Order: sequence, then structure tokens, then C-alpha cells
Amino acid sequence: MTEATTPATATTEPPADQRPYSPGLEGVLAGETGLSKVDGERGRLIYRGYRIGDLVERGTYPAVANLLWTGDWTPDHRLPTGQIPAPVLSILKALPTSTKPMDALRTAVSAWGATQDLPWPPTVEQARALTSFSPSALAAFARLREGKDPIEPDPSLDLVDGFLYQLKGERPDPGTARALDAYFIVGAEHGFNASTFTARVITSTRSDIASAVAGAIGTMKGPLHGGAPSEVVDQLAKVGSVEHAEEWLRAALDRGERLMGFGHRVYRAYDPRAAALRKVAEGMEHKPDWLQLAIQVEDVALRVLAERHPERALKTNVEFYAAPVLQGVGLTPDLFPATFSLARHAGWTAHVLEQSADNRLIRPDVRYIGAAERDLPA
Ligand code: ACO
Repeated sequence: MTEATTPATATTEPPADQRPYSPGLEGVLAGETGLSKVDGERGRLIYRGYRIGDLVERGTYPAVANLLWTGDWTPDHRLPTGQIPAPVLSILKALPTSTKPMDALRTAVSAWGATQDLPWPPTVEQARALTSFSPSALAAFARLREGKDPIEPDPSLDLVDGFLYQLKGERPDPGTARALDAYFIVGAEHGFNASTFTARVITSTRSDIASAVAGAIGTMKGPLHGGAPSEVVDQLAKVGSVEHAEEWLRAALDRGERLMGFGHRVYRAYDPRAAALRKVAEGMEHKPDWLQLAIQVEDVALRVLAERHPERALKTNVEFYAAPVLQGVGLTPDLFPATFSLARHAGWTAHVLEQSADNRLIRPDVRYIGAAERDLPA
């Protein structure tokens, strides 16, 4: 064996590894995808070639999910919410009511995987089953923590209507369901973000789709990824009125704070998802009363940010207008990140399918910067 023949004392070290390293893998090409293109310079986002604005205007979440999974545009595609297996429901009932919704969702997906037969390679059917299960699980948990009974899925409703029905116990009005459906479409997919990359790494080991999505939810839980539309709401409440906006925003920047809903790692232009959601928010019947303030504050914030950071384009991001849509459809802010995860199921599972179709174990190198080889102390 190699260990037995290794000399007891350290040998001369090989030259240091000079290969380039990019912290956070920023700018590193780590794969290829046909699912979406995030064009940060021009502020464009396409799913399988189709513009996000057109998909929001003319599509539904089930149709977009099917497009991502299969490549086919089938506008009438339906996807109701799924049943919760009895062991998963028992686990949700056993969780403390203080459990964060993201933890509950991650637990539910993991438990769901334990109740299913999920052979390799993953299939569109598996993707569909998991994507339709999770809204039922999140809605059930949200009710259980309030001491209410979960509501059975209604197969006549599509996924987003079904989720709202199972959450609130009444069928949403069409405008509300349409607004949340639009949010689900813009949240469905976004290139090689951290959670999607996690899902692909897990898939590359030939693990199953539930493990990949449970890992992705764990990744999205981090505040650097899951976004913070609830913080947009808090910040606007502090701004209070458009008359105070400029003074408040300048003071916040002087304190070193960030303006929530602005800036992005990839986008240097206006986030096309924000543009699509602004239209949706303005068209909502039950829009939050602070939407008009948000629109006015956005103009001031863009002007102040351009002045402060002439070297870096800081534009509105998706979170700024996700906040009024999510609040307008009646979700409490602590459900915002888990709802984002429900939307991203389509993209995660599509990446699982794409990875498995042309799989190679994802196993990058790391540069060792620790102590040189040495003897254990006597
Ligand atoms: N408000 C004020 N200044 C900002 C903002 C902001 N929203 N965003 C970036 N800056 C400034 C930084 O302070 C930094 O300035 P400095 O060089 O003088 O220190 C400069 O712009 C570059 O900032 P980075 O952090 O390097 O930019 P990065 O592109 O990595 O950050 C991020 C992206 C995290 C989204 C950032 O813009 C931010 O914190 N925005 C506010 C929070 C937010 O809206 N998050 C949601 C993002 S969308 C999503 O997650 C789905």
C-alpha cells in the first residue's frame, strides 16, 4: 500500500500551484446550459430563448415549468398541487411552531424523498411530482403553526391558485392568483446561481432529485441568496413619505447601509424581472398602499446611487417589486423566501434533468495553502 512506502520524513515540496483562482468562482465558467441566459450588461433574461417579459404576459407558471423541463412551449399545460404523503404530514405536525418556513420546506422535501422511489436518472415526472408537492407542504406548515388543519389539494386548480387556496382556505380571486403566478414565472430560473449550482453538484454524484432540491433550499436560505423583499418593506416604512425620501436615503448611505432592492452581482442594467413585476404590482386590485411611495422612492434612490457610485451601475433589482406583489397577494413576510423557493423548483429540477442527461461528476480542485508536509510531534 502507498501509505506503507511513504517516507517517515518530509520530502522537498513541489512548486506552489500557480493556476488562477477566482474567489466565489466569480467569472468562472462552471458549466453549460440551454435553460436560461442572464445578460447582465443589457438587462435581459431569456428562458430557452423566450423573453421573460413575454413569458409573464402570455404564460403561466405550469407552462413555463414545462418549457424548462421539456423545451416545449405548451401554453395550456396544467400542474395542480400534489398530495402530502402521510409520513411527511406527521413530520410537519411534529415541527415546533417557531420553525422557520425555509427549514420546514427543506425538511418536507427531504421527507418526501424518503417516501418515494426516485431511481436514476431523474425524470420529468419526478420533477413534476416534487414541484407540485412542495406548495402543499408549505401551505400545510403555515396552517399547522397557526393551529389550523391543512387543506387537501383541489385538482381543478393550477399550482399557484392551489397554493393560495391551501394556505388561506378560500379560492383566490383571479387577479391575485395571476399576480403570484407572474412572480413564480420570474422566480423560476436564473442561471448558475448558488442554489442551482448546489442542485447540479448533488445531481452529478447520481444522487436523487429530492436530495438535490433539499440541498438547493438549504443554499437559498442564506441571506446573501434568498433575497430580502421583506427588508424593502421595512425600509420604505422608515422612509415614510416621498418628501423625506432623499434625506433618509442619503443618511442611510452615510451610515454605510445598503438600499434594499438595488444592486446585483450580474445585472448592470435594470433587472428585467423588476420591470415585469412592477407592471404586475401596478395592475393588482389589492396593491399595498405603499406601492406609490415605492415608485417615487425608486426614482430618488436611482439618482442618489448614481451620484454616489458613478463607477458602478446600481439599478433596481427583482426584490424591489417582488415585495409589493408578495404582500399584495396576502403573504406574510416570513413566507417570502420559502415562496421564492417554490417558484425556483422549476429551474432547480430542470437543471437536475439537464445535468443528468450529460453527467460528469462535479469535483473541482482546491489549492492547498496549509502547513508543508511534516512529522507528527513525538
Ligand atoms: N445600496 C448601496 N450601495 C450599494 C448597494 C446598495 N443596494 N449595492 C452595492 N452597493 C455598493 C457597495 O457598497 C460597494 O461600494 P464600495 O465599493 O464603495 O464599498 C459597491 O456598490 C459594490 O458592491 P458589491 O457588494 O461588491 O456588489 P455586489 O454586486 O457583489 O452585490 C448585492 C450585489 C449583494 C445584491 C448588493 O447590491 C446589495 O447588497 N444590494 C442590497 C440588497 C438586495 O437588494 N438584495 C437582493 C439582491 S437580488 C436577489 O438576491 C434575488
